[in-house]
Amino acid sequence: MPENVTISRIDGVATVTIDRPDSLNALNVNTLEALDRTLDETEDARVVVLTGAGEDAFVAGADIGYMKGLSVEEAMEYAELGHEICDRLADHSAPVIAAVNGYAFGGGCELALACDLRVASENAVLGQTEIDLGIVPGWGGTQRLSRLVGDAAARRMVFLGERLDAEAAAEIGLVGEVVPQDDLDSVVEEMAHQLAEKPRFALAAAKEALNQVHEGPQSAGLDYEKRLWSGLFGTADQREGMEAFVEKRDPDFE
Ligand code: COA
Repeated sequence: MPENVTISRIDGVATVTIDRPDSLNALNVNTLEALDRTLDETEDARVVVLTGAGEDAFVAGADIGYMKGLSVEEAMEYAELGHEICDRLADHSAPVIAAVNGYAFGGGCELALACDLRVASENAVLGQTEIDLGIVPGWGGTQRLSRLVGDAAARRMVFLGERLDAEAAAEIGLVGEVVPQDDLDSVVEEMAHQLAEKPRFALAAAKEALNQVHEGPQSAGLDYEKRLWSGLFGTADQREGMEAFVEKRDPDFE
């Protein structure tokens, strides 16, 4: 099995790249597990950068071909794995920057949401698009999105499955800044190196304290979301939504 995740390190900055470009870096189990293992190698990094391989995608989401046949129990296991990885990013002692270099849909948007900072290239498109597959965000999206962009914008995105270009995403605060595609690497590199020069324990404390703002109710919300999400794998709309995607046709929901 190919690893589908690479890591490079320069001066305390670990760059983790999800590398499955033929599927627009969609996260199948193999890739999620590789990401989990790769995050082990970032534990002593001062800054982590997360990005996707190729010109087109950060991560086009959880793998729909894999998900479409999941039972409720299997969906719960997949949700657990996705949550574990998003939690690792959110709780990492180092700041994590998402370099959003293209499509960031569904689980891809949720990975970006679990990072501390999001820098997008002009060609990026972001969305919690799960509704059109007959499900809802299941890797923390309902909770983290709402906290980041506010309730109204989150409802719009989640209910309509809107796909926002980078500028629209910046307007609602979903990404912090938008840069020309060719400049993304250098802008992120500069930001990462600035952060790497800050006092690491103070930075870790700042992150931990800022994370506390969302503690308590969020963990209950995340558990709630996991149960709801996996429960949808018993519905006809989930099967239809995902089968339609794989068969390249419009879904016919009940
Ligand atoms: N899961 C599995 N495979 C995916 C995928 C996903 N989330 N997103 C894209 N792919 C695959 C496609 O099936 C296709 O594979 P193929 O070449 O074997 O047919 C390949 O990636 C390229 O995608 P394609 O749809 O042909 O490219 P496009 O440029 O026309 O469209 C997107 C790109 C991202 C707009 C489109 O692929 C899309 O809408 N993907 C689903 C996004 C989504 O809903 N994600 C949330 C999942 S929770």
